[in-house]
Amino acid sequence: MKLTIVTIVCVVLINFISEAYGCTCLPGTDQERFCSATFVSRGRVTDMKPLKGGEIEYTVAVNYNFKIKVPSTLKVRSNQSSAACGIILDKGVEYLISGTVRKDRYRTRYYTNSCRWTRRWQDIKPDTQQKLLKGQFNSC
Ligand SMILES: *[C@@H]1O[C@H](CO)[C@@H](O)[C@H](O)[C@H]1NC(C)=O
Repeated sequence: MKLTIVTIVCVVLINFISEAYGCTCLPGTDQERFCSATFVSRGRVTDMKPLKGGEIEYTVAVNYNFKIKVPSTLKVRSNQSSAACGIILDKGVEYLISGTVRKDRYRTRYYTNSCRWTRRWQDIKPDTQQKLLKGQFNSC
């Protein structure tokens, strides 16, 4: 009982702090980030478009899928504000990009954020790049 109360207080506090001061990500290994994402792909950002509601849509020319196959011209959304875990991607740069997929009756949307495994491809360690390219991350 005591533990439950402590847990609840902690969760409320963490939510409050992260809303007030910014985005908090759970720590995790590359393997965990690989698993928790629906898609993990590599591609070059070719365009970006701010949307209403503080979101931004990136167009990514995908050249590699490490998990599910995403459209070769991927439209992926993120929040713009870093406090809301938004991520800023630079046009012309190649990224490892991962995230989630939301489907409804009309369309499929792809999302990423700063807690996901989204990094400049050149900043990924060479042995991790090889592991991705050789499909050596465990299936989840
Ligand atoms: C933006 O942040 C809000 C609140 O945290 C969240 O509900 C929404 O899904 C986020 N949008 C994107 C594109 O990640």
